[in-house]
Amino acid sequence: MRYPEASSPLSSRQVREELGGADAVIVALDELDAAAISAGRNLKVIAKHGVGVDNIDVGRAALGGITVVNAPGMNSTAVADLVMGLLLALQRKIVDAHNSLLEGRWERFHGPELVDRTMAILGFGRIGHEVAKRAHGFGMRVIAYDPFLAPAEFERAGVERCEEIDAALAEADVVTLHLPSTGTGPLLGGEAIGRMKPGAVLVNAARGDLVDEDAVVAALRDGALAGYAADAFAVEPPVGRPLLTAPNVVFTPHIGAFTDHANELMGMSVVEDILAVLSGRAPRHPVIIKD
Ligand SMILES: NC(=O)c1ccc[n+]([C@@H]2O[C@H](COP(=O)([O-])OP(=O)(O)OC[C@H]3O[C@@H](n4cnc5c(N)ncnc54)[C@H](O)[C@@H]3O)[C@@H](O)[C@H]2O)c1
Repeated sequence: MRYPEASSPLSSRQVREELGGADAVIVALDELDAAAISAGRNLKVIAKHGVGVDNIDVGRAALGGITVVNAPGMNSTAVADLVMGLLLALQRKIVDAHNSLLEGRWERFHGPELVDRTMAILGFGRIGHEVAKRAHGFGMRVIAYDPFLAPAEFERAGVERCEEIDAALAEADVVTLHLPSTGTGPLLGGEAIGRMKPGAVLVNAARGDLVDEDAVVAALRDGALAGYAADAFAVEPPVGRPLLTAPNVVFTPHIGAFTDHANELMGMSVVEDILAVLSGRAPRHPVIIKD
């Protein structure tokens, strides 16, 4: 067992240098592209310490007979908690108020309450469901867009189903993203953001490439978007990116899953699945490539 010395996420080149003759590798957001996977001469299993596998070339792994596993559902409550934290920080200007107070001022900061406001969840999977529960707890109306789920899933959760993404965008005071990276460009570009309700805010604790960050900056500057909170960025870390200087933003460095509870659940799960694969048993959470 060895840990890399470089800080995560490792680039493909760094992964190649680290892999050596390892049978298994546990990754977070490290770049496991085709070149990195090919460099693992004994590699049999790649374990994602999390959910999203957009940093892993799952197709290349399959070609090489390498199993990919992940840890679905184990960080859902952790991410959902952070989403509500980001939303409250954005709406009530908690970060600005904190910084102002530390600078010796005693200013008044105003913002909206969440009660009776509408939240649209785009991608109503495990994290989306947990966010819906929390939003209901704050007295919000929750609507969701997820074309891959049966209507009964929405009903069970007390959430209104939107057939079209535009309906969700147009009705919501808060739009929050909980779907995987599309891999084909941003889900929300300038036009889609333009269809959001005046005064609405956007929260992205999914993946940075789901939004066109330049369009977000433009919309924040001209007031079309009232705020943007993110835990995920198109480039991580987003050093020097225009987004960092935009008004009405709150950011965290991709820490959605970083709670002790989630860390323990994900760690145990991936280790058990690695041991399963290495001893010829079926893992509990294999990542299957969809056509
Ligand atoms: N910030 C973090 O640290 C962090 C941690 C975990 C996961 N995530 C991100 O959150 C995402 C969701 O995680 P999850 O555990 O809820 O996954 P999940 O698989 O349980 O749910 C994803 C949902 O998105 C839906 N979906 C897929 N494509 C869609 C589309 N084009 N439009 C609408 N819905 C679509 C799916 O049907 C599914 O219900 C992950 O893919 C990952 O990118 C971020």
